[in-house]
Amino acid sequence: MCCAEQNIKKKRNETLSKAVSPVDGPVAVTGASGYIGSWCVYDLMESGYNVRACVRDKNKPEKCDHLTALNDDPTLRGSVELFEGDLFKAGSYDDAFSDCSAVLHTGATVGYNSETPQEVYDGCFTEVQHVLESAAKSSALKRFVFTSSFAAVGHPRPPGYVFTEKDWCGDNVEGYNGRWTEEMIPKNRDIAYAMAKAEAEKMLYAQAEENGSFDAMAILPLHVIGPLMCANHDQGWSWQNCMRFMAEGKAYKKSAGGRMLWNNVDVRDVASAHRLAAETTIGCNGSRYILSAADRSGELFTWQLQAMMKAMFPQLAEVGGEEMDGDQPAKPTYDSPRSYCLLAMEELGLETYPIEETVRATIDSYFELGLLSA
Ligand SMILES: NC(=O)c1ccc[n+]([C@@H]2O[C@H](COP(=O)([O-])OP(=O)(O)OC[C@H]3O[C@@H](n4cnc5c(N)ncnc54)[C@H](OP(=O)(O)O)[C@@H]3O)[C@@H](O)[C@H]2O)c1
Repeated sequence: MCCAEQNIKKKRNETLSKAVSPVDGPVAVTGASGYIGSWCVYDLMESGYNVRACVRDKNKPEKCDHLTALNDDPTLRGSVELFEGDLFKAGSYDDAFSDCSAVLHTGATVGYNSETPQEVYDGCFTEVQHVLESAAKSSALKRFVFTSSFAAVGHPRPPGYVFTEKDWCGDNVEGYNGRWTEEMIPKNRDIAYAMAKAEAEKMLYAQAEENGSFDAMAILPLHVIGPLMCANHDQGWSWQNCMRFMAEGKAYKKSAGGRMLWNNVDVRDVASAHRLAAETTIGCNGSRYILSAADRSGELFTWQLQAMMKAMFPQLAEVGGEEMDGDQPAKPTYDSPRSYCLLAMEELGLETYPIEETVRATIDSYFELGLLSA
């Protein structure tokens, strides 16, 4: 066997030895009370894992009861135990992570709680560093899966451009008209968020490489929608919350005239991708996976999403969305971001929900939680 072949074999054996399964010990989830984190807990339990769900405060029933109730679900083979931790406190996750084979780091100060752009940026590094330090103390750790964002991928490109995992938000700096600078961090939440996620990813891959005993990987979701597990998942300005507003007949306010290309992914698929990344025998340190539509059917302009909701839920008096001129959109929408979760499907074996099921389940969950009435 030549040297190159030996190196490939060594790398392959290393990847195999880091693939996680339920027999390797518990798996921890940060931000477990959150929308994505809660579904990660569910998905892990469905696959037979013992889950350490990390929340800020165990005594908040509105954020924790839906998690502990999972222990009573006979369809779930695993179990869940609550642990407390704060992303801003060093060492806060030491207990929760001890003996864990993997950490899924979904928790973040995402700005829903009115953090300033600078706080979002600084928070991301401080948080990720603290979580990583606690994780690295577990001698059982094999995989660290970070919830990054498509924001760490997208950058100015002509309409119709298809983004892949090879794209980074800092590419093509000239396309930002001078706005891709550190001075923009305190002024622009979107730039602060994108820069923070991209730099946090790079920092994680470098530290995991240096450590050698675990892989760091990232999941890069786009517009996450799908069923809410509790009322607290209806965070103001989240995509699911915008859908609720539309279902109430209100205009979509996150972009001019409500015009946007929604590149949708089901929250349950995002959760599965986190687990599959921990389990993969193909992906390795530095692997990143976009979680977006699987194909064109999941990419909808606001008016198309609006029309789908209208047809699916005739009991809704009115469905709001973008500015219309009769039954046609008043103005064309900029054709971006186009991107598909093909790598997650190919390398991780992810199977995705059809868009109709995702949209239906989102609105159904709002009805079930009493947050929407016909
Ligand atoms: N949703 C999307 O469309 C989307 C798209 C791309 C990327 N992402 C990324 O996905 C991750 C999860 O987002 P999400 O939509 O699930 O948001 P979410 O529902 O707001 O969940 C955020 C979680 O982080 C926790 N958290 C916030 N500050 C904390 C602190 N100081 N210490 C400990 N925990 C703290 C929250 O706990 P509390 O319940 O105590 O507040 C909550 O559990 C984030 O990293 C976000 O950037 C989301």
